[in-house]
Amino acid sequence: MIVIEKAKEMQRFADAQRQKGLRIAFVPTMGFLHRGHLRLMEEGKKHGDCLVTSIYVNPTQFGPKEDLAKYPRDFDMDYKLCQGVGVDVIYFPSNEEMYPQHYQTYVDLEGVTQNLCGLSRPGHFRGVATVCAKLFNLVKPHAAVFGKKDFQQLVVIKRMVADLNMDLEIIGLDTVREADGLAMSSRNTYLKPEERQSALSLSRGLKMAQGMYAQGERDAAVILDAVSRFIAGHPHATIDYVKICDTTTMKDVARLDRESVMALAVRVGAARLIDNSVFGEPLNV
Ligand code: PAJ
Repeated sequence: MIVIEKAKEMQRFADAQRQKGLRIAFVPTMGFLHRGHLRLMEEGKKHGDCLVTSIYVNPTQFGPKEDLAKYPRDFDMDYKLCQGVGVDVIYFPSNEEMYPQHYQTYVDLEGVTQNLCGLSRPGHFRGVATVCAKLFNLVKPHAAVFGKKDFQQLVVIKRMVADLNMDLEIIGLDTVREADGLAMSSRNTYLKPEERQSALSLSRGLKMAQGMYAQGERDAAVILDAVSRFIAGHPHATIDYVKICDTTTMKDVARLDRESVMALAVRVGAARLIDNSVFGEPLNV
């Protein structure tokens, strides 16, 4: 396994792989890796001869009042975990490498960023789309693997790749959870032990919604009301949003008569947690 820090070096490496006719698989991350990330890497191994992962806490996707400075980092631990799953290259750029002086180009998407985290975190998806476009130009992957835990992010990346004719396949993988159902996240490290039960209100709320759907409920307002009350009934939990959206447009739906996703964002203590589940799809809680 090698670590590459420079943009040009990353591109030369990618060119060399492609010239040899080898396929490049890519998993972008912000580090502080957990089993969710490692699952994406294992899948990446199946889609390429060479697996590249990036570790970069991208400043442009954090709002001014968000946790950029506090975001957890542990490169030594990440290095060992990457080695364990057979990563070939860690791309580990600096901020100067990614956003040098005079940097001024950003990727903005319209409809799909205008709900959910796009509303709560203005500019977030502009940063995500921009950094992913840059990383795709640096790593030149044939396939990139993303988690469905960040459902809207996956929709945004798929939309960008289609709209800008980027020549790679985007693969989405199911959310990896702790034994108690909590979706794995680098931000779970912010949770205090006494906040854990409240953190579980997200996955339990999703399960409740799926139960109502299975019983035939199709009125979004009825499900939203039940889940919102359930989550709000937990100490330490403050709802950012509880929504049901169309999985393609990300617009709110009133009735669940096409493919819809329940998306949750809840603050529990210092952590802002997100989770989601597509109606009718199995929920591994
Ligand atoms: P990060 O939060 O580090 O997540 C990296 C990838 O891991 C994303 O595709 C995310 O959806 C996936 N992931 C996170 N938790 C997961 C879980 N419990 N199960 C399955 N997959 C999970 O998402 C980002 O970084 C950044 O926005 C990035 C795409 C790297 C751009 O900066």
